[in-house]
Amino acid sequence: MTFDFKMDQPQPRLLDSTRQGLIGTDMARPEGLLKVTGAAAYAADHLPEGCVHGMLVRATVTRGRVTAIDEGSIGDIPGLLGVFHGPKFIRNPAQGMAGESPIRPDTEVHFHGQPIALVVAETFEAAREGALRLAVTYESAPAEVDPETASEVESDEPDTRGDWDDAWGKAAARVDLTFRTAGHVSAAMEPHAAVAEWQGENLLLRGALQMVATNRLELADALGVEPERVRVVSPFVGGGFGSKLGIGPEAVAASVAARDLGRPVRVVMARQTVFDAVLRRTETRQRLRLAADADGKLLALAHDDRISNLPGEGFAEPVSSASRFTYDALAMHFAQEVARNHRTPSGSVRAPGEAVGMITLEVAMDMLAQLLDIDPLDLRLKNVATSHPMTGQAFGEQRLADCLTEGARRFGWADRPAPGTRSEGDWLIGAGMAAAARPNALQESSARVRLTPWGAVVETDMTDIGTGTYAILTQIAGEMLGLPAERVEVRLADSDFPRSPGSGGSFGASSSGSAVFMAAKGIREKLARTLGCDPDDLALQDGIARGGNVERSLADLIDGELGETATVGPGKTAETHASAGFGAHFAEVAVHRWTGEIRVRRMLGLFDIGRVLNERTARGQALGGMIWGMGGALHEALEHDPRTGHIANRDLANYHVAAHADVPGDITADFLPVRDDHANPMQSKGVGELGISGSGAAILNAVHDACGARLLSIPATPDKVI
Ligand code: MOS
Repeated sequence: MTFDFKMDQPQPRLLDSTRQGLIGTDMARPEGLLKVTGAAAYAADHLPEGCVHGMLVRATVTRGRVTAIDEGSIGDIPGLLGVFHGPKFIRNPAQGMAGESPIRPDTEVHFHGQPIALVVAETFEAAREGALRLAVTYESAPAEVDPETASEVESDEPDTRGDWDDAWGKAAARVDLTFRTAGHVSAAMEPHAAVAEWQGENLLLRGALQMVATNRLELADALGVEPERVRVVSPFVGGGFGSKLGIGPEAVAASVAARDLGRPVRVVMARQTVFDAVLRRTETRQRLRLAADADGKLLALAHDDRISNLPGEGFAEPVSSASRFTYDALAMHFAQEVARNHRTPSGSVRAPGEAVGMITLEVAMDMLAQLLDIDPLDLRLKNVATSHPMTGQAFGEQRLADCLTEGARRFGWADRPAPGTRSEGDWLIGAGMAAAARPNALQESSARVRLTPWGAVVETDMTDIGTGTYAILTQIAGEMLGLPAERVEVRLADSDFPRSPGSGGSFGASSSGSAVFMAAKGIREKLARTLGCDPDDLALQDGIARGGNVERSLADLIDGELGETATVGPGKTAETHASAGFGAHFAEVAVHRWTGEIRVRRMLGLFDIGRVLNERTARGQALGGMIWGMGGALHEALEHDPRTGHIANRDLANYHVAAHADVPGDITADFLPVRDDHANPMQSKGVGELGISGSGAAILNAVHDACGARLLSIPATPDKVI
C-alpha cells in the first residue's frame, strides 16, 4: 500500500515520544568500517568479467568543430579496441535536473577540454596512451572567454520590492560595494567513474552519481533507449558537491562503447578531466547596496550580480538567493546578468548561490555596522526578517536571532578587544562574525520498509555521497520500529528501488528520511491494529511492542513480514510557509604584519536546522561547509587561460582546497534544539550547504578587525592584504 503524506496535514511529534533512543544521537556510520577498510566497492572498483578500459579525449580548441579523427594515428597500440566519437560523443556534461537536458548530440566543440572521443583498449595504460596520442583535426571558430567583456549578456527583469529611490534617498548610511568571487570546482575525492555492462538489451551502469532516478532518465535519453532498460546503481560515492548531480560524459561514453563492443567498459576520469569536463561554479561580480537609518534599521537592500555560462545552458548560480529573506528592508532589488562565454559550463557546486552570495551580503553588513558605529551583532539582530520579505510567507521556524545571540555568547563576542588593538609578535589578531541562511525544501520521495521478525529492511534509491544517509535512515527506521541499529538494513542508490530526489540541494536527508518515517509509521499502525491498541498508545522498544495492557515481541506479532511503501511531498505548506536553515558564524584570525598571510585561529558555527537526525553526521556536514567557506575565502580559485578559457590549474596541487594545516584546531559546530513543524514529518531541515553560507564572511570581517584591510574579492590571497 502507498499513502501520500502532504505537509498540510497535522503533525504529531512522534519522534519525541518513541523510546528506542537512536534518533539524533551521534551513531557512527553503519558502513563506516567497509569504507575505511577498503571493502566498500565504489563505481571504479567493479571490474566485471571481460571488462575493458576507456579514456576520454578532450578538445584542444575552445570552440569549433572536429573535422577529422585519425584512428590510424594510434593503430599501433597493442590491445586497442576502438575509438568512439562523432555525434554520440561530443556532448556537454548534463546539469542533471529532470526535464532540462543539455546533453547535446552535436559535432561542435563548446569549450576547451570538452570530451570529444573515447579510446577503448584491453588495458588502462593502452587506452590512456591512445587518448593522449590520438590525432584530431579541428576547424576553429572565434570564442569569447572573459565574462567581463562578453558581447552576449542576458538579463531578466529585476525582482523588486518597495520604492528604491525613496528608501535609498532617506538613509543615514549607505554601502555600495562590488565584490568578486573566483570560480570553484567541486573537487570530490572520488573522480567521476562509470562501469557499463549490457545484459542483452538491458544496461547496468555502476556510476558515481547523486541522483540515480534522474540519472537513469538522462542516460536512457542519451542512449535512445527506454528507461526501463537502464538500471543505475551507486551505493558508495566519494563526494559529490553538485558535480555528480547529472549524468556525465564518462557514463554515456562507457555505455555506448560497451554496447558496441559487447563487453563491459570502465571509464574513470583523470583528475584533470574532472576539472575540464565537469561543471564549475561560475566566477561572480556582485554589486551589493545597503542603506539604513541612524539606528541601523535597513531601508534598502540590493544584490545584483553577473555570472557566466555557456550559450544555451539553463543553469544560473542563484547568487542573491539568501539575500532575499535573511534581512528585511523597505526596498529590495535583485537582478542578474548571465554573460555567455566558452569556459567549461557552470553548474551546481555546493550551496549554489549562498556560497558566494552570502559572503558578499555579510561583508556589506559589516561595513554598514562600521559606518554606523553599531556592533555588527546588534545590526543583524535589528534586521532579522520575521517573514519572507519578497513573498510575504511566514517562516516555519526562524531562529537566526537565537543563533546570533547564543553563538556570540559561546564565542565571547562581547569580550573581544577593540578593532586593531590586538597583536602577538608580527601577527595582528581580529574577530569577525556573519549570519548563515539557506532555503530548505521537502522534495517528493518514496521508500519501502519491510519489518520481519528479525529486523527491518529499508529500500530507496537515495544516495549516500559521504553525507551519512545510511546512518540516518537506519536511525529513523530503528527509532520508529523499536529496533536496535544492527537489526536495520538500509539499501540505497539502486534505480530499481522506490524513487527519491537523491542527494542535492540539502534536501536529501529530510526528504528520503520523511519517506522512511512515514512508511514506518504505517507499519506501526498495522502493529497497533494487530495488538488491539490505539496507534498513539503503541510503544516499541528493542523488539517488544506494548499497547494498553498487552505486551508482545515483534517475532510473535509478525507472521512473515509487514511492508509499507510511503511517498511524501511538500503539499500546500511549501506555498504558505518559507523554510530555511539559519546560523551564525564567528571567527578569529591572525594576519601577518609583513607578509599578509591569514591564519584562521578559531571558528564557531551555531545553526538552526530543526531536529538533528544524527549529531555526528550533521556536525560533519556543518564543519565541512565552514571549512569550505574558509577555503573559498582564502585559497580556492579556478584560473582560466585568458586566450582559451582553459582551466590552467587542473589538479589538487594547483587548485588548493583547505588542508589540515589550514584548519584551526579550535573549530566547533553546534545546533540549537529546534523542531520545525512546517518542514516535514520529522521537523528537520537541511544542513549540508548551510555551513558554507556566510562562513567566509566571518573570516574576511575578522581580517578587517585585525588589520583594517577590507577585502572585496576572494580568494583573499596575501597580495590583496598588504
Ligand atoms: Mo548540491 S551543489 O545540490 O549537490
